[in-house]
Amino acid sequence: MITNEMRTMRTLDQLKALYHQRTTGSRAMYERARQVLPGGAARGATAFNPHPLYGSRANGALLTDIDGNDYVDFNLEGGSCLFGHCSPIVMDRVREQLRISEVQSIASPLEVEVAERVCRMIDCVEMLRFVNSGSEACAIAARICRAHTGRPMIAMCEGHHHGQLDTLLFSHYGPPAGDDSAPATIRDSLGMSPGEDHNVLMLPFNDAAVAAQLIERYADRLAAVFLEPMTIFGGAIPAEPDFVHALRRTTSRHGILLVVDEVPAGIRIGKGGAISHYDVRPDLFITGKALAGGLPIGMYGGRRDILEPLLSPPYDRSNKALSSGTFSGNPTVMSACLAVLEAVEDGSVNARLNALGDHTRSALRDLAANLGVPMYVTGKHSIFGVHFSDASPRSSRDVRRDNRRLDFAMAMMAQGILWPAGRIAGFLSTAHGEEHIEQLVTACRISAQAVYQSTR
Ligand SMILES: Cc1ncc(COP(=O)(O)O)c(C=O)c1O
Repeated sequence: MITNEMRTMRTLDQLKALYHQRTTGSRAMYERARQVLPGGAARGATAFNPHPLYGSRANGALLTDIDGNDYVDFNLEGGSCLFGHCSPIVMDRVREQLRISEVQSIASPLEVEVAERVCRMIDCVEMLRFVNSGSEACAIAARICRAHTGRPMIAMCEGHHHGQLDTLLFSHYGPPAGDDSAPATIRDSLGMSPGEDHNVLMLPFNDAAVAAQLIERYADRLAAVFLEPMTIFGGAIPAEPDFVHALRRTTSRHGILLVVDEVPAGIRIGKGGAISHYDVRPDLFITGKALAGGLPIGMYGGRRDILEPLLSPPYDRSNKALSSGTFSGNPTVMSACLAVLEAVEDGSVNARLNALGDHTRSALRDLAANLGVPMYVTGKHSIFGVHFSDASPRSSRDVRRDNRRLDFAMAMMAQGILWPAGRIAGFLSTAHGEEHIEQLVTACRISAQAVYQSTR
């Protein structure tokens, strides 16, 4: 709830002080946590300066921290919780499954049924494999592409996130490097396998002509081009149709595979995923997150003629690709996937979410127009982004020119809007309603004014 006190706040310093004042329990937990968890958190995404928030429970659109503050959750664990937190749609099915078995050392009929449903929903997916995260799905999909084509290189767009594993951990973080039309391939971590960067080609997002030229130049070495049609980490920016068509045309001409990464988008968007809005058929398709409605999941699938020969047993390292994992396809997560897929089958859930997305973006755009602050709203479907820039961003390079993002996130969190700093996109769930959007817009007005004041 936005209080009267919040409505009087004009400066970033006031909002930062409010964050501290409301979260003394989280501060104390941070002091304890940092003794055993670097940065006081189990993963980079939740570590946050001056201290992370520690949650106690979550229900519907709300998440409550250990100080008892409620937050309207527009992150939803990277968009995973399609029906909000603790939805009976997912929870009841999982509880039922946990009474029967949690994991099994043999395959289960559930994985068959989930796979059949995914193939029906995403028509470019003829066969698939499950893993435990989007990162694994991306890294193994890249392996499959190299195995199928016998070529070493993968192309991806600058600023796009394809998981935390070495294979594709390049140029998605930190300041952009290289010219606008020739982004450099920069390692995003110390300790990555030597030489991986020589096998990754960076493309400028939404620049069809330059991307096509670069692909042509490296065509005989390229196994695949990875594309996020609806970027999340890159700033909630949809790919422009001519860009997607240029990638498909050029890759097809040279026998390069087009891999669509829809880890957060996919099931959230509806039948066919985000790529279906471009009338383009990729060779491989990756999804995760919302597929299991809040449980850990990753999945890659696509053309039968690629996957079947490489993955069917018997495994032989001279002519097969490896894809396994202890918890991959476990019945607990599969039961959650089944619940989600049944619930979205007739398309009405996605339609409702997409309409709420249109409404949210339009309310935020109206706010931007009234405020007279250089604030731009991006996104599509049930995903949205807010940026402080001179023009509406077309790529993550434009997004990263905005240095007010972290202050904005903190100002939003001080007012009870969960807007984690590292994540650039907001997500909606079926648990979100008009009152939550109003709260978002009010908090955004206060935060945008304060952030803009502080940089004038
Ligand atoms: C487009 C995209 N691909 C891959 C991943 C990695 O997924 P995970 O965090 O489940 O490993 C993410 C995570 O946010 C993502 O947004």
